[in-house]
Amino acid sequence: MVDLAIIGGTGLTSLYNLKIIRREVVHTPYGEPSGALTIGELCGNEVVFLARHGYGHTIPPHMVNYRANLWALKHAGIKRIISICAVGGIRGDIDPGSLVIPDQIIDYTWSRHHTFFEKDLTHVTHIDFTHPYCEEMRSAIAEGAASAGIDIIQGGTYGATQGPRLESAAEINRMARDGCDMVGMTGMPEVALAKEIDLCYAACAVCANKAAGRSEGIIEISKIETTLKESMVRVRQLLEHTINSTSC
Ligand code: HPA
Repeated sequence: MVDLAIIGGTGLTSLYNLKIIRREVVHTPYGEPSGALTIGELCGNEVVFLARHGYGHTIPPHMVNYRANLWALKHAGIKRIISICAVGGIRGDIDPGSLVIPDQIIDYTWSRHHTFFEKDLTHVTHIDFTHPYCEEMRSAIAEGAASAGIDIIQGGTYGATQGPRLESAAEINRMARDGCDMVGMTGMPEVALAKEIDLCYAACAVCANKAAGRSEGIIEISKIETTLKESMVRVRQLLEHTINSTSC
């Protein structure tokens, strides 16, 4: 049974090397996911793919139904998730094109549905969130990177902002003081929801730009798109090696 899912973010709405077997439309108690689950074969391994922002990239970060996406994946039998997400680099060594595997997160989002545990409760549920990401999956990605000969930055704190606008330079300075190494808009509540329902979840953050105020001038959106497009070649290779296939 297929137990690994890839959630694709900006720049990764499809996996060209995925041999599609079928698509599954899942309705959930939390509403509709971003799209049908795409079940396919990636280099001989069955995986499920879901485009976080929809297959036409039309759902902005604050409108993504994170609960429905994760519930749908759990319902389909998924146990492990690799999330691909775009970020801006705050720390000096996180440059456009860098791939970073975060190990911590700080949540600056608001008014998103950030828990499954809020209705028809018999008791109040809290989860431990000391280590937000699944170590097993983080190590698997590191091994995949080593086998593919792809440089990654292992560890870093992801600051999750509300979006859809980018940040001001002052907001980025504050985030740097807080200890954030990168900034993105989709990390939360996705990783917390995954933890609530026992999914082993890790992210590969793709640096699309230097965060606001960390380079000369303003952030050019067209450059972000180009950098992501170029970086996805390595992300696809990384995914192939991470899912541990020799037949690619
Ligand atoms: N800020 C927030 N999210 C992002 C950025 C950024 O600079 N770049 C890519 N996603």
